[in-house]
Amino acid sequence: MKKTKRHNQKSTSCQPRAKSLLVTGGAGFIGSEFVRQGCAMGYKIAVVDKLTYAGDLSRLKEVKGRYQFYKVDICNKKKIDEIFKKEKPDAVVHFAAESHVDNSIRDPFVFEEVNIRGTLNLLACARKHKVKRFIQISTDEVYGEIEEGKFTENYPLAPNSPYSASKAAGDFFVRSYIRTFDFPAIIIRPSNNYGPWQYPEKLIPVIISKALKNQKVPVYAKGLNRREWLYVSDCAKGIYLVLRKGKVGEIYNIGSGAEKKNIDVVRMILKELNKSKDLIQFVKDRPGHDFRYSLDSSKIEKLGFKTEISFKQGIEFTLDWYCKNKNRL
Ligand SMILES: NC(=O)c1ccc[n+]([C@@H]2O[C@H](COP(=O)([O-])OP(=O)(O)OC[C@H]3O[C@@H](n4cnc5c(N)ncnc54)[C@H](O)[C@@H]3O)[C@@H](O)[C@H]2O)c1
Repeated sequence: MKKTKRHNQKSTSCQPRAKSLLVTGGAGFIGSEFVRQGCAMGYKIAVVDKLTYAGDLSRLKEVKGRYQFYKVDICNKKKIDEIFKKEKPDAVVHFAAESHVDNSIRDPFVFEEVNIRGTLNLLACARKHKVKRFIQISTDEVYGEIEEGKFTENYPLAPNSPYSASKAAGDFFVRSYIRTFDFPAIIIRPSNNYGPWQYPEKLIPVIISKALKNQKVPVYAKGLNRREWLYVSDCAKGIYLVLRKGKVGEIYNIGSGAEKKNIDVVRMILKELNKSKDLIQFVKDRPGHDFRYSLDSSKIEKLGFKTEISFKQGIEFTLDWYCKNKNRL
């Protein structure tokens, strides 16, 4: 595998407008990157996370002692209310979710509880405590699949998995709060994220894990499904940009333009790791599997968003990190 330096996580020079943040799901994959960047920029951060199988505070070890932590379920009205009373956040950035499509196919109910009711509970509490911004972290998957072209933010929602249905329902509640209560929320829809610290149930860490153990790498159907890959630090930077410059009531897509067939991602990683293509094992397709997602990100680009990490660099950083942290696989 090629040697690469861990990239510098440059902080943005802009002064934060909202100074104190309540970050839900801050012990998760994307939320923890957001918290690490926020601590480096001087935000006062309180993390609310239930620490499910997907949550892990060691993701925040480099900023230990620089954030307040609450091990609380976002569905717990009383405890969430107490946290708002105590922390008085200027803004809420809401990452906490059940996030894995395959799990939603096995058990949709927990997705309904966390991604819909949990979101509604936070909205109600944030409204009661008059927060200045509520950032809903949604997903490109709420748009459904697209054969050609790109999803703009005005595209109708057509979710196809219980996961994306629950995220879309969460977005609709956010929309209803904006419209009905003049609530200062913004929705962000990122494409597929990857990078260090991702839980090894998602495609890229699964490929790395199996390949490093010389096990078969499962690929759904013929591997022709296409995804747009966004490096996690770029995603977090995009979210800070929207927090500072985004307009209340708007939706912002965050994509990278790095659209790849799953099979090409698998081949690239196997090549980087000097592993044989014979490890690839095609398996029965995921039910309802969306064929392609692709985002039009021109709206956030007008705020100044630009990805800093190419797909090639991002994969190198990710492989480098997992090779040094094999216990995470
Ligand atoms: N990973 C991606 O590619 C991607 C892409 C687009 C959007 N998103 C969205 O971004 C957000 C973060 O995704 P991720 O990949 O970091 O997820 P993740 O699964 O890595 O982390 C989710 C975090 O939420 C916490 N959590 C779950 N249920 C909770 C509850 N009831 N109360 C409090 N905390 C709870 C977990 O403990 C975990 O720390 C999600 O809302 C997801 O829908 C993810």
